[in-house]
Amino acid sequence: MDVISVIRTKRDKGELSPEQIDWVIDAYTRGEVADEQMSALAMAILLNGMNRDEIARWTAAMIASGERMDFSSSLSRPTADKHSTGGVGDKITLPLAPLVAACGAAVPQLSGRGLGHTGGTLDKLESIPGWRALLSNEEMLSVLDGTGAVICAAGDGLAPADKKLYALRDVTGTVEAIPLIASSIMSKKIAEGTGSLVLDVKVGSGAFMKTIEDARELASTMVALGKDSGVRTAALLTDMSTPLGLTAGNALEVRESVEVLAGGGPADVVELTLALAREMLDAAGLKDADPAKALADGSAMDVWRRMIAAQGGDPDAALPVAREQHVVMAPATGVLTRLDAYDIGVAAWRLGAGRARKEDPVQAGAGVEMHAKPGDTVTAGRPLLTLHTDTPEKFDYALKSLESSFDIAPEGTSFTRKPIVLDRIA
Ligand code: URA
Repeated sequence: MDVISVIRTKRDKGELSPEQIDWVIDAYTRGEVADEQMSALAMAILLNGMNRDEIARWTAAMIASGERMDFSSSLSRPTADKHSTGGVGDKITLPLAPLVAACGAAVPQLSGRGLGHTGGTLDKLESIPGWRALLSNEEMLSVLDGTGAVICAAGDGLAPADKKLYALRDVTGTVEAIPLIASSIMSKKIAEGTGSLVLDVKVGSGAFMKTIEDARELASTMVALGKDSGVRTAALLTDMSTPLGLTAGNALEVRESVEVLAGGGPADVVELTLALAREMLDAAGLKDADPAKALADGSAMDVWRRMIAAQGGDPDAALPVAREQHVVMAPATGVLTRLDAYDIGVAAWRLGAGRARKEDPVQAGAGVEMHAKPGDTVTAGRPLLTLHTDTPEKFDYALKSLESSFDIAPEGTSFTRKPIVLDRIA
């Protein structure tokens, strides 16, 4: 088999054979297929797609590139997991994992780093002094068993093909392909051996899926892959036309997540956290649990503190703050009717919250703080956004992506907020 014929098959809109798929994933994982060749194949897949059989085989080959885990024999609680397809200000895993654990499930949350303009859970948590994303399988099980939840990087042994391909797609403009997103997420989740999975499929400008039709296609592809592998899988389609909460950036989002765990925080973050928690608890067979109570009575916060400490972090440490701030004032008084998730995500990324090359570090304190959400009244000359960075020479570049990022309508204009949860696929 040679890689050029595999690339040509997809470039010419053909169907990849099972043998071609198995070979190319294995050869790429072993370093026999070069990054530039895999980038060409990923771009051909993005442009020409894959059918359901190809996606199932691609996913199976990614799972087979590494080990499979099985928690069922070593844990006394049912496992529940969720995965988001990626959004702006999407810090939901941070309050959700300890919340669902506080309600009685075991939550093994293997998470990722930022991808394109979307933030990554691990990058966010690494802004907590001392916190470690890299755990051995034994450490992961011990944190999970001891606290009920663990959020960590997938070990090198778990779907290593996805690890390489994910980092490559991030920097080659090949993220937004339904077959690649579905196989990336589901290979990790199936290999991790979770019993149930809730997918948060984001829709809107800040998501990889811009339309509800594409999001439905991605959700149903992933739900089918999960069910075929014996994982109870459901998907919520959720709005990503505007950022979640009031922050986009690593430490900024940790701060907001802790506010939610303390019983406060922005209403949309609380609403989505509770909706996903109910889905996860249902899927895990814990229908009587009350996540709203676990947020209000401090038990979710208690799991958070123990989980962070078990991974070397100090839950009481001050979070990093960027060296420089720049405030964008509202140019008019009125109702904020649009605050674009993609533009805010790109600004946060340019300020240093995300990466341009796969080996780049991220800045813990960088990002965008929003002082209003769509539907709020804003006042001319008052702060609308605060930009944070350690590299102030990036302000101009970030401001460019914000030039048409919001609309303000005259005072008194009526505005209906979009629901957060748009649909459910199971
Ligand atoms: N999250 C993943 O794990 N993979 C993708 O491809 C996109 C989002």
